[in-house]
Amino acid sequence: MKILVVFYSRSGKTKKAAEAISEILKCDKEEIFDMKSREGIVGFLSAGTDANLRRLTAIKEIKYDPSLYDLVIIGTPIWSSNISTPIRTYLFLFKEEFKKVAFFCTRLGSDSKKVFADMKNLSQKAPLVVLELTTREVARDQYIQKVKEFIENLKEEIVK
Ligand SMILES: Cc1cc2nc3c(=O)[nH]c(=O)nc-3n(C[C@H](O)[C@H](O)[C@H](O)COP(=O)(O)O)c2cc1C
Repeated sequence: MKILVVFYSRSGKTKKAAEAISEILKCDKEEIFDMKSREGIVGFLSAGTDANLRRLTAIKEIKYDPSLYDLVIIGTPIWSSNISTPIRTYLFLFKEEFKKVAFFCTRLGSDSKKVFADMKNLSQKAPLVVLELTTREVARDQYIQKVKEFIENLKEEIVK
């Protein structure tokens, strides 16, 4: 089965989780880059506003065609209780291309249910499995066990 991990990360936490997932699965990974700067306080504020208003952004050209993969695992940080703007854009642009999806997110403490429901609506696919991690778990390397369980659950869903 061909698997692709796609993620956006402003400050490295979602990237760390994405790297762990793709290393265990030995699969391709695609980092999404926002053309709009999200650095510093101005970038932080624009990120919060854009996510809250469910705006789209311009993202850099992608390297991997998602339609060539059996499963695309998509990860986002939570911004203003929402999907991050670059991942909202990716889902919007490529929604027709996914065969199967799974989602993960990192966040301080917000409920992920709404974000995963939004990702499901945007991608027009119910995720096989979801994984939510806190920033704290990722920072303290407590996320590896959760990542392993996520992958085990994913494997069970794939053979169903
Ligand atoms: C603009 C902005 C808004 C955020 N809003 C929330 C939020 O509503 N709830 C929450 O739990 N975390 C929120 N966070 C925290 C991030 O989701 C969290 O730090 C995440 O792990 C960052 O991932 P990254 O390092 O991959 O960018 C926000 C972060 C940013 C930059």
